[in-house]
Amino acid sequence: MFRVWDISLMMCFSVSLMFVGVEGMSELPPPRNLTFTWETPFTLNLKWEKPKNLDPGCKVNYTVEVRHSQDCPVKAEQDNQRDSQTRRVQNTTCKFNISNENGLCISVTVNPEICGIKDPSPSLNISIPPPTVTLVKDRSYEYFNNTLKCTWSPVEVVQDLGFYYWSPHKNTVIKCNDMKIGQCVIHDTFPKYTTNMFYLFNGTYKGKPVNNTFMDKPPTQYVKINKPQLTIQRDQQNLLFQTNSYLEFGPQCYRYNYTYSMCDKIAPGKVIENKEYQVDYDSNCKYKARVQIIFYDNCGEGQSDLSDEVEYGENRDPNLPALLAVIIIPFIVSCCLIVSLVLLRRHKDIIFPKIPEPTLIFKDMFINNIRIPEDLRHQSPTDGRLYVPIEEIVESKISLELETPLIPTTTNVAGI
Ligand SMILES: *[C@@H]1O[C@H](CO)[C@@H](O)[C@H](O)[C@H]1NC(C)=O
Ligand SMILES: *[C@@H]1O[C@H](CO)[C@@H](O)[C@H](O)[C@H]1NC(C)=O
Ligand SMILES: *[C@@H]1O[C@H](CO)[C@@H](O)[C@H](O)[C@H]1NC(C)=O
Ligand SMILES: *[C@@H]1O[C@H](CO)[C@@H](O)[C@H](O)[C@H]1NC(C)=O
Ligand SMILES: *[C@@H]1O[C@H](CO)[C@@H](O)[C@H](O)[C@H]1NC(C)=O
Ligand SMILES: *[C@@H]1O[C@H](CO)[C@@H](O)[C@H](O)[C@H]1NC(C)=O
Ligand SMILES: *[C@@H]1O[C@H](CO)[C@@H](O)[C@H](O)[C@H]1NC(C)=O
Ligand SMILES: *[C@@H]1O[C@H](CO)[C@@H](O)[C@H](O)[C@H]1NC(C)=O
Ligand SMILES: *[C@@H]1O[C@H](CO)[C@@H](O)[C@H](O)[C@H]1NC(C)=O
Repeated sequence: MFRVWDISLMMCFSVSLMFVGVEGMSELPPPRNLTFTWETPFTLNLKWEKPKNLDPGCKVNYTVEVRHSQDCPVKAEQDNQRDSQTRRVQNTTCKFNISNENGLCISVTVNPEICGIKDPSPSLNISIPPPTVTLVKDRSYEYFNNTLKCTWSPVEVVQDLGFYYWSPHKNTVIKCNDMKIGQCVIHDTFPKYTTNMFYLFNGTYKGKPVNNTFMDKPPTQYVKINKPQLTIQRDQQNLLFQTNSYLEFGPQCYRYNYTYSMCDKIAPGKVIENKEYQVDYDSNCKYKARVQIIFYDNCGEGQSDLSDEVEYGENRDPNLPALLAVIIIPFIVSCCLIVSLVLLRRHKDIIFPKIPEPTLIFKDMFINNIRIPEDLRHQSPTDGRLYVPIEEIVESKISLELETPLIPTTTNVAGI
């Protein structure tokens, strides 16, 4: 009975001893006197002091975290990495390239490096409020051929608005002089694959200097490519689409988005690495094509406008030759036939001059062997002969010639 009680007491005691021991060597003391200065409008210089009562044999280093918000969270949030920058240093100073846009929260923590078993210290925090006055909003950029066009809309209008940028390779703040209202064009040779860009807007608002700084993506994220020119060429059984445009970066940075239609049917578009694109050519089809250049992910972001639409060939019915043979040729032939028949009829007097029909005369002669024309004239119908019409033709010709001058001309003259 007593034994069990003793053992349990002992266990309790040793456990509490262990607990106290761990508690005693757990946390390092926090750093002291954290201060900041702006070395440039974009460079924040931080300074602090070693913790007090630090074991002289204890080697420590520091974690410095800067968040883009003046509110320091009470609980450590590891998830929002994008909104913060973290650095580990041995010195008690540290520099950050950063903007003051949303204010900043700065935390410094002491870590044991060679210091037995110790936990990191609680962090020492300071916050920097955002600028009291916001000068601009809606910033946007467009990069082309070593010129970066920056545009914005003003929020508070100041008379002496200045726009500056950080030149990474000259390592200085440079004024943008090509300034218009709401826009400035920077002419500079940026490193092609630079890191973030820093901008400063400043001015005097109600007698006090105001500075707004911004950190934005590098110019390669805002690439603007000239509208490309598309040409289409025939190459035997193929059509060759070719793109022509001014390309500032290496060819690996571009992709070509070809869209085309053949015979008014839209073919699936193709995004390819090569600026030439070949398709099978159907000579019975009209092709219409456009191209757009895309600045490829690995190099940055951007695109060109769509090129003008270029056409090649004509839509033709593939059955046309057969149709021609079966319908149109016979049709044309029959038309020709009809026309020639009509012409023949109309001009048959010329083509086949009229000659007295010999057959009837011969018949006549055969039937009435010894007759002469004078006998014919005096012949009476009582004879019942069948060849009377011949007489009439001969006779009427003669009588008409005699009578015509008399009847119509005299009346006409009389009338006048
Ligand atoms: C911070 O440093 C200043 C001098 O740099 C000193 O006067 C002050 O006592 C320090 N504050 C603390 C809390 O150590
Ligand atoms: C920006 O303005 C604030 C006051 O508005 C001033 O304390 C700070 O030094 C200025 N920073 C720069 C880089 O001019
Ligand atoms: C300081 O800020 C960190 C987050 O950055 C937070 O976890 C910590 O509790 C803060 N410390 C104090 C003393 O407010
Ligand atoms: C640490 O600080 C010392 C002087 O305080 C300086 O000479 C040294 O360059 C600094 N080291 C780093 C890594 O910043
Ligand atoms: C700081 O100390 C830790 C050990 O606690 C070590 O892993 C890290 O490399 C050190 N960092 C620097 C910058 O010395
Ligand atoms: C690019 O800029 C250079 C000089 O800055 C100029 O000579 C050249 O014509 C420009 N190219 C285009 C396509 O605008
Ligand atoms: C700040 O930016 C400058 C210029 O880009 C660079 O030389 C420097 O190393 C950067 N400093 C830090 C701490 O990132
Ligand atoms: C704006 O900033 C630049 C560079 O820091 C400085 O030379 C200029 O005097 C500032 N202008 C105003 C009105 O604060
Ligand atoms: C290619 O262009 C077509 C038509 O302009 C467009 O619908 C499509 O989204 C583009 N594809 C890519 C990957 O940009």
